[in-house]
Amino acid sequence: MKEFRPVKIAVIGCGMISGIYMKNLKEMFNVTELVACSDIIPERSKKRAEEFGIKQMTNEEILADPEIELVVNLTYHTSHYAVSKAALLAGKHVYSEKMMCITMDEAREIGEIAKEKGLLFCCAPDTFLGQGLQTARQIIDAGLIGKPIMANAIVARGYHHERFKDTPERRFAFLPGGGIMYDMGCYYLQALVNLLGPIESVCGYSETRGADDRIFMNPKNPAYGEVMKIETPNNVCGSMKFRDGAMGVIITTSECVGAYNSFIIYGTNGMLTLNDPNDFTGDITITYRNEQETKMPRNFAYAENSRGLGVADMCYALRNGREPRCSFERAIHILEAGIGIMNLDGEGKYHAMETSCERAAAFEAGIVEYPEMVMDE
Ligand SMILES: NC(=O)c1ccc[n+]([C@@H]2O[C@H](COP(=O)([O-])OP(=O)(O)OC[C@H]3O[C@@H](n4cnc5c(N)ncnc54)[C@H](O)[C@@H]3O)[C@@H](O)[C@H]2O)c1
Repeated sequence: MKEFRPVKIAVIGCGMISGIYMKNLKEMFNVTELVACSDIIPERSKKRAEEFGIKQMTNEEILADPEIELVVNLTYHTSHYAVSKAALLAGKHVYSEKMMCITMDEAREIGEIAKEKGLLFCCAPDTFLGQGLQTARQIIDAGLIGKPIMANAIVARGYHHERFKDTPERRFAFLPGGGIMYDMGCYYLQALVNLLGPIESVCGYSETRGADDRIFMNPKNPAYGEVMKIETPNNVCGSMKFRDGAMGVIITTSECVGAYNSFIIYGTNGMLTLNDPNDFTGDITITYRNEQETKMPRNFAYAENSRGLGVADMCYALRNGREPRCSFERAIHILEAGIGIMNLDGEGKYHAMETSCERAAAFEAGIVEYPEMVMDE
């Protein structure tokens, strides 16, 4: 008789996104058992530990605890690599928020350590597992728009104007690894790869335009009065050629005012308009030749904010010995695409992708809870 054994998890990094992660890891999934959390700012981990009835620990205590099997890395970008590497070296499986790290060398090293140690390393975003993008996947796989030929992904978020001016640490949005392509572009790249398959080559333009005329405006912010120094591309425009034939463009800017996004896949028989891939669902429509827009039924689970779904999938994968959907191979592939488009690798305006991956297994339609049952020894 097999016994069910959830995976014991600790979260490192108790900032903004940790609240919904911890709530879902506690309440939404039967395979995740949240037991501890830490932060370099101990008041933050104390607050979360009290809120969720778990242990407050230091990073070191988490890594030394043999009971903890998996670390969820919710630190900001500049800490991702060091925290994930330390956790892997300590023998923990790791799920990291996006992007997994800043450079391809760091990513390869993470992959190698995980492989050597026989551990899983997975990475967000996991919104592509949500109701909206799984509906889109079903539509494409069923051939409802014919052969996908073209895609456009546009995301504009005015970071320099309205956001990130209240807290000093949120300046990471202006640092390498924290810019708009890493922060928001990755949702679109992940969704595109899940819908259209791997990317064969990319090219693009990017610019890192200073905001010398803009300063931190909030008197409560210790950076008040300082110039917002931009050290990573804030305007990026790229194009992609997918292995299976489709082409696509992606535009990300954080220098604009306001917020706008558009995500469309054009097929030989219809045009598929997708939800914002930063969300778990939203309207999915098909426009056919008669120009009539049809709102498609969304018959999949995870419409609500299900951050942590990728962690749960990883835990099922771990227990059942199957491949996780937010796999290292997919994460490094979208990291390479983002870097290639930003042209940070110095190879010019055309980048032939070195990494590849297959699409993650789709979820089953019509099942309102996670379909996988797991029984462990
Ligand atoms: N905020 C969002 O809406 C959102 C949504 C989805 C994903 N994410 C991703 O989640 C991650 C965290 O985002 P956030 O908004 O919660 O950031 P945040 O700045 O609010 O929180 C990050 C926390 O990590 C802690 N930290 C940093 N380095 C650490 C270290 N070495 N050890 C322990 N703790 C450390 C910080 O003190 C901070 O409390 C980022 O990768 C971000 O891209 C954020």
